[in-house]
Amino acid sequence: MNILVTGGAGYIGSHTIIELAAAGHDVTVVDNLCNSCEKSLERVEGITGKKVPFYKVDIRDRAGLDKVFEENKIDCCIHFAGLKAVGESVSKPYEYYENNIGGTLVLIDAMRSHGCKNIIFSSSATVYGNPAQIPITEECPKGQCTNPYGQTKSMLEEILKDIQKADPEWNVVLLRYFNPIGAHKSGLIGEDPNGIPNNLMPYITQVAVGKREELGVFGNDYNTPDGTGVRDYIHVVDLANGHVRALEAISRSCGLKIYNLGTGHGYSVLDVVNAFEKANGVKIPYSIKPRRPGDIDSCYSDPEKAFKELGWKAKYGIEDMCRDSWNWQKNNPDGYRD
Ligand code: NAD
Ligand code: WQD
Repeated sequence: MNILVTGGAGYIGSHTIIELAAAGHDVTVVDNLCNSCEKSLERVEGITGKKVPFYKVDIRDRAGLDKVFEENKIDCCIHFAGLKAVGESVSKPYEYYENNIGGTLVLIDAMRSHGCKNIIFSSSATVYGNPAQIPITEECPKGQCTNPYGQTKSMLEEILKDIQKADPEWNVVLLRYFNPIGAHKSGLIGEDPNGIPNNLMPYITQVAVGKREELGVFGNDYNTPDGTGVRDYIHVVDLANGHVRALEAISRSCGLKIYNLGTGHGYSVLDVVNAFEKANGVKIPYSIKPRRPGDIDSCYSDPEKAFKELGWKAKYGIEDMCRDSWNWQKNNPDGYRD
């Protein structure tokens, strides 16, 4: 199929392009590079040996999108483009709603005008809020999101559901990612946050490479075995493969489908620190800090539905994730900026 990947220069998008190419799909990328750079795509081309047509276009730019659809016959859109920093979304709610919701509405309208009614959307486990049950199945009710970022994901899920209900020609797959970490085994592409990392693994790798002194562990009085927060970390290459499987569902005209993409295993912050040290032989100094507002005790998936319906299952374990995250960081201490 010919796939339009929005946000394809970013962390998950760049890894997904590689898996799409391996499965024989053709990819066109749209990205405004607000949180990424073109170098990731050059490296993807190096890995796949295949040119990736790239348009530096903002998804809010309707004329820009029209040109992309006019010049390429697109069968399906995998929609990663969006702003994703939880803390920033609290201080800049307008920017998050305008970019994520406004941008997706422009994209949907451009898609239908050009006869493309197939979309895979990057949703998030954040839509479950403080989950009503653990492990979390797709039937678990959506919860109260504590930040505008999470609200955009939850609202966009509802918008896409309504659009599919009104016009059953649409095939919509909502993929709820748990906590993606890791990197391609080549060490050529990976997560490249701007400034101080918000998320656990990039912070750990920056401590390991000497850019940060120590990890702050946000709370050790949670209701978990060691008191630190438990999450379902998933290797980004497994996540990328989930999109390839979702495309197969789209090609069978699946209508509306919702899947968790996680491993089903929960690891605490200290479990991740220990796994990182074991996998890489690098010490991670840390100290316990106060809880981070909005954090929850535990969040991990029941990934059975994606296995039963898509035949998808995560292959990589926590040590693989730690090894590959470190391989990327140590080979690219400044990310793509060198
Ligand atoms: P990322 O920031 O690395 O990638 C997003 C890409 O979208 C960037 O390259 C950015 O430049 C681009 N972009 C943003 N706004 C745009 C716009 N208006 N027009 C064109 N391009 C635009 O983030 P990621 O980690 O790769 O995440 C990809 C998607 O998955 C996002 O929608 C994110 O919310 C979602 N998600 C991420 C995680 C995670 O922990 N990384 C978890 C759940 C869901
Ligand atoms: C994991 C654990 C922290 C940093 C976020 C978004 C979610 C999704 C994935 C997009 C928690 C602890 C972290 C640090 C720490 N993104 N931690 N020290 O919060 O589960 O999920 O990213 O959709 O929406 O909320 O991930 O990596 O930030 O935190 O102790 O320096 O690590 O408290 O227990 P989170 P995270």
